[in-house]
Amino acid sequence: MFEVVILTIIPELAQNEFDALLPLVSPEKQERIRKFHFFRDAQNCLLGDILVRTVICRTTGLSNKQLEFSMNEYGKPFLMNTHHIHFNISHAGHYIACAVSDEPVGIDIEFIKPVDLKIAERFFSSDETAYIMADKQIYRFYEVWTKKESRIKWEGEGLHKPLPSFSVFEPNNHLTYQIAFQNNEAICHVCSTKPIMLSVSVLNTAMFLQSID
Ligand SMILES: CC(C)(COP(=O)(O)OP(=O)(O)OC[C@H]1O[C@@H](n2cnc3c(N)ncnc32)[C@H](O)[C@@H]1OP(=O)(O)O)[C@@H](O)C(=O)NCCC(=O)NCCS
Repeated sequence: MFEVVILTIIPELAQNEFDALLPLVSPEKQERIRKFHFFRDAQNCLLGDILVRTVICRTTGLSNKQLEFSMNEYGKPFLMNTHHIHFNISHAGHYIACAVSDEPVGIDIEFIKPVDLKIAERFFSSDETAYIMADKQIYRFYEVWTKKESRIKWEGEGLHKPLPSFSVFEPNNHLTYQIAFQNNEAICHVCSTKPIMLSVSVLNTAMFLQSID
């Protein structure tokens, strides 16, 4: 099982929809969400949590009230109920990408926008930089970036691992990168321990709200 859901937050939530969803997340998360200065940030954080809960409930048969989350010392959230279900989420503007799998997983989604390619030389390994500079530079930059970030999120130790210290091209029998989503404005990769067939769905806010029981 390896499910990826891409949620496009269009339209934004109405205040009554936000208020109805808020009690579905933990009291700690509610407190964090209430502290956001901008409604959009609060909404994105809330929808990310609800998205994870929805996919996990559907795949495990557990009810939302049964779900208990914790996080590792670097902030990677995990489900305490079972060690067999892994998840990760990523935000980029009006996109939220959520991956749920029976293998450890990391996911990253980024907007494809103009970038100073000097960043690649600073943060990427030499073979990654050479790959980016050879052709289709902006596209390849975000391809490598999202693979690299998904790997970091798979490991769950944040930026404690220096970015140039590894390459997404190095042979590693235990890790695979798969593209989960791509359109003319965003790209998303997942990193996992096995090349499991991805089931990808793309939803907008209205479709997502209808899918919540
Ligand atoms: C925190 C980090 C894991 C990802 O940050 P990010 O790219 O800004 O954010 P994303 O939207 O992709 O992911 C955020 C989500 O990752 C999860 N997360 C938090 N810490 C995590 C960790 N250590 N490992 C995996 N996932 C983590 C959380 O669920 C978080 O969402 P939430 O706060 O709504 O619950 C970390 O790698 C980071 O700060 N990266 C900086 C980006 C960078 O410099 N990249 C260089 C080019 S590769």
